[in-house]
Amino acid sequence: MSIIAIAGDHGGIDLKSLLAKEIEALGYDLLDLGTNGPESVDYPDFAYALAEAVRGGKAERGVVVCGSGIGISIAANRFPEIRCALVHDAYGARTCREHNDANVIAFGGRTTGPDVALECLRIFLGTEFEGGRHARRVGKLSAPPL
Ligand code: RB5
Repeated sequence: MSIIAIAGDHGGIDLKSLLAKEIEALGYDLLDLGTNGPESVDYPDFAYALAEAVRGGKAERGVVVCGSGIGISIAANRFPEIRCALVHDAYGARTCREHNDANVIAFGGRTTGPDVALECLRIFLGTEFEGGRHARRVGKLSAPPL
């Protein structure tokens, strides 16, 4: 059984709990890294905890949520092993897996409605990476020229 991690800040709290329930309903084991209350918190702390779980192999994939999805996706993407896609629609949810091998999906709790987010989550979890020409490009994501 695969483990899916989830984390978010106060701006994503309602959507996060909806997505967490759906992850379990789909039959995955859930690793909930918080936050789980309405108090104001700092989204990088939660993004970093989730990134650590995914890059360390504790979770196969991850879901992050903040108010816009922007801050938490930027924070998650500060690790070379993390490919976090901020998604707003089904096309993005599919292509971030097929083309980018995204291992984390980000949502904005204040920007994306529950039905769209749930559809995107299902697609993200159910879609495989296409490999082929995309594998060369994805490889370059982990090795930027510095
Ligand atoms: C918190 O108010 C908000 O700034 C945060 O959830 C997120 O939208 C940041 O990118």
